[in-house]
Amino acid sequence: MSTVALILAAGLGKRMQSDLPKVLHPILGDPCLLWVLLALPAEVTAAVVVVHHGKEQVEAALAAWAGQGLLPCPTTTVDQGEPMGTGHAVRQAAPELDRLGTDRVVILYGDVPLIRAETVARLALSQGTLLAMDLEDPTGYGRVIQRADGTLEAVVEHKDATGEQRAIRRVNGGAYALPWEPLKQALGRLTNGNAQGEYYLTDAVMDVAARIPVAVESCDPQEMMGMNSRRDQACLQAYARDRVNGQWMDLGVTFLDPASALVGPRAVLGRDVLMAPGVRLVGRVEVGQGTRVGQGSVLTDCRIGEQVEIRPYCVIDRSDVDGGCQLGPFAHLREGSRLEQGVHVGNFVETKKTTLRRGAKANHLSYLGDAEVGERTNIGAGFITCNYDGFNKHRTVIGQDVFVGSDTQLVAPVTLGDGSIIGAGSTITGNVPPGALALTRAALVLKEGAAARLRQKQKAFKPD
Ligand code: UD1
Ligand code: MG
Repeated sequence: MSTVALILAAGLGKRMQSDLPKVLHPILGDPCLLWVLLALPAEVTAAVVVVHHGKEQVEAALAAWAGQGLLPCPTTTVDQGEPMGTGHAVRQAAPELDRLGTDRVVILYGDVPLIRAETVARLALSQGTLLAMDLEDPTGYGRVIQRADGTLEAVVEHKDATGEQRAIRRVNGGAYALPWEPLKQALGRLTNGNAQGEYYLTDAVMDVAARIPVAVESCDPQEMMGMNSRRDQACLQAYARDRVNGQWMDLGVTFLDPASALVGPRAVLGRDVLMAPGVRLVGRVEVGQGTRVGQGSVLTDCRIGEQVEIRPYCVIDRSDVDGGCQLGPFAHLREGSRLEQGVHVGNFVETKKTTLRRGAKANHLSYLGDAEVGERTNIGAGFITCNYDGFNKHRTVIGQDVFVGSDTQLVAPVTLGDGSIIGAGSTITGNVPPGALALTRAALVLKEGAAARLRQKQKAFKPD
């Protein structure tokens, strides 16, 4: 039994007023289409995305997600050509569905991001189901007409509906599970003689429902809400935020201000994590037990261990931080930073492709790029690895128990041996052996009483 998900994503999304295809607009950092793909259960063996407008961008995004191992099943695309309705979209995908040996097709929209994995799993296991929702204001949607036994009889599009039919508040959500063979035959019979001159998928669904029973399942309207405008996007993001933050609260995470904490759907948080106001977690972010994420911090694709203190306004990107570290305020860990147990990285410290080993400290105003810092080493204020000579990047290796004085530059490639000491204000251009003291410093000049004389002299030259 091969169940294939077919995701419709060829629409223009004109109301988004955007150069980015609608389905790539993010909700809590993850593009809409990725939400849909990540909701696919194990029963779904392959996914086909119907694309057209912004095809290249959507295909590039799919390739990138596949490359990152994010996709739950093999995913291909079909170009619909000029979109002529939902029925046309599915019909254009028929050869691909045949190629995949599809027995049952689960149809979803790429711009409906909040459909739950449980809901798609139920669909994927059903013989034939249409997902509906009950709305206070059903304007614009297809109305669902059921038989006495509850099975689907008809879907009438708003524009084709009579006044009586428009009073029906149960509407078609646009997600279905149907056996492929009868659906394919029904698609072959589709015409576009309706108010919109479109090939309606709903007509084909009705055609199938006339042959086999199709269940109508009513679900939470939030799950079926589409993103057609920036207002919808903001609304969906608020729903998603409440859902995600609520789940973590149930699992023991404190949110000081749940309305302002934007935690992406792929984040994984431990017990007793504390989220301050205005934090943002984007992509795959793991935060260990008891860690505190300070106000305004932005964490992207990173792993943070247990009992870490992230003070306000830190930016952490593609980095790995072990337990017991202290960061910030205003620390910036760029891609490839690795902090072992108990490291301190303080205010206005930037790291990139740098490892700080256990207990190392860089507490103030520094740049560490392409570097390794040994255990317990202390980096003074205003330290810089000069890792780039204008042509190439070079590495800096600093041993353990090293003391690097303030306002020091290390011109890479360079190595500081274990236990060495670098005097403040030095520019180090060669390797320092273990245990050595290195400093490059002009001798101190002292002139007793010269300050007063200098002031007099400056005054005398001052024009009125
Ligand atoms: C459709 C249903 C309607 C239902 C509503 C729920 C039909 C005929 N009507 O409305 O009963 O209440 O969804 O939202 O199916 N798309 C394509 N190619 C096309 C047309 C659409 O890929 O040629 C995609 C769109 O990008 C979108 C989705 O299909 O993701 C739905 O299209 P939309 O125009 O919003 O749905 P309606 O046809 O208005
Ligand atoms: Mg339409």
